Amino acid sequence: MKVLVIGSGGREHTICWKLNQSDKVTKLYAAPGNPGISEIAECVSIKVDEIEELVAYAKDNNIEFTVVGPELPLALGIVDRFKEEGLSIFGPTKAAANLEGSKSFAKEIMVAAGVPTADYQEFTELEPLIKFIESKDGKIVLKADGLAAGKGVFVCEDLEYAKNSAKELYNDFNASKVVAEELLDGVEASYIVATDGKRVVPFAASHDYKRIFDNQEGPNTGGMGTVSPTPNLSEEQEKWALENVINPVVREMENRGIPFSGFLYAGLMISKSGDIKVLEFNARLGDPETQVILRRMEGDLFELLYCLAEGKEELPKQTFNRNSAVCVVLASEGYPESPVKGDEIVGIGEANVNETAEVFHAGTALKEGQLVTAGGRVLNVTCFGKDLDEAIKNTYEAVSKIRFRGMQHRNDIGK
Ligand code: AMP
Ligand code: GLY
Repeated sequence: MKVLVIGSGGREHTICWKLNQSDKVTKLYAAPGNPGISEIAECVSIKVDEIEELVAYAKDNNIEFTVVGPELPLALGIVDRFKEEGLSIFGPTKAAANLEGSKSFAKEIMVAAGVPTADYQEFTELEPLIKFIESKDGKIVLKADGLAAGKGVFVCEDLEYAKNSAKELYNDFNASKVVAEELLDGVEASYIVATDGKRVVPFAASHDYKRIFDNQEGPNTGGMGTVSPTPNLSEEQEKWALENVINPVVREMENRGIPFSGFLYAGLMISKSGDIKVLEFNARLGDPETQVILRRMEGDLFELLYCLAEGKEELPKQTFNRNSAVCVVLASEGYPESPVKGDEIVGIGEANVNETAEVFHAGTALKEGQLVTAGGRVLNVTCFGKDLDEAIKNTYEAVSKIRFRGMQHRNDIGK
């Protein structure tokens, strides 16, 4: 089958890498893809938000199945449009993707489904929000209601910062609605499943490291590294999350006539005493969670997603092996504020330190035949091992082979 992957980051490179292992995939395409992806797929220069161009390309080239990586095309209704044209695609409709696109909608669904989440209030105006912030002494989390590419969330611990964040949300983000929620304490985990709106196929749990510097310091990023499995979520807690978070939300969406089909990602906070609350939902795979989850997946990803998208009665078996997988993100100078681009990258070949190493491209480009940096997160180095220590050792050995000017990465992923 001819399969198209939408996106251009490390998540999409990993999806392509996994799909490429399927006997059933005869040709792989990516829009727009990246230099790493181009080694295994034909890259088509259509941007992820050019929905009509993507529809036309899929029709003209007899694409038989499409997998969507990022949230933007989902929020723009790519799945609705592909389905209208009779094209097979895995992902949620625009209405269902609102679970990620609107924090307020996600909260409404969670409350209706009885899913534990932080207490919250919604504000459409600054003044009452400031009063509320004062009543909480500034210990509060403020979230812009709409998609904000990971930048619309302010975790506040003091009054001054909270008030300034509220003003920033209204002035700079133009937020028409702000969700103000209880500041939770604990460790985080990413729990992702694939679903057709009724049936749920759990994927292995993982967790990502959000801050730019070691020891959770510095500003938040899209994610500087990941591990799977994660010590933050035990197998028992995974089961609990499936029964008490994922299943009720999938049922609630179905009951409302907006079934959620696609990858459903629950961002969880686990308190010291083991209580689990949902921080957010994403309507897609995580990046860089995918890079470790798919490295542990046994079985045919294409077949699973195709069977779910087509409502096939029988789903293929999926398992996640006992290895530990680690991903270290190599980021460019200035990330996350103002990433510098255009620096030469060397050493990817040497990074194949052993058979467990894979280097996925996230923000790279070819300039006169030379691979250069082209984004904030540049490369994702992944390895596995029989346990976490071995996976960490393998991954950092691979990391040490790669160089580009101003390269930054965390030294404590998995530790
Ligand atoms: P979100 O996009 O809603 O997941 O928020 C991004 C990050 O902000 C999360 O991964 C957490 O690290 C943090 N965060 C979000 N909500 C809360 C909360 N209620 N309490 C503490 N931290 C939070
Ligand atoms: N790594 C977090 C995310 O994909 O949203």
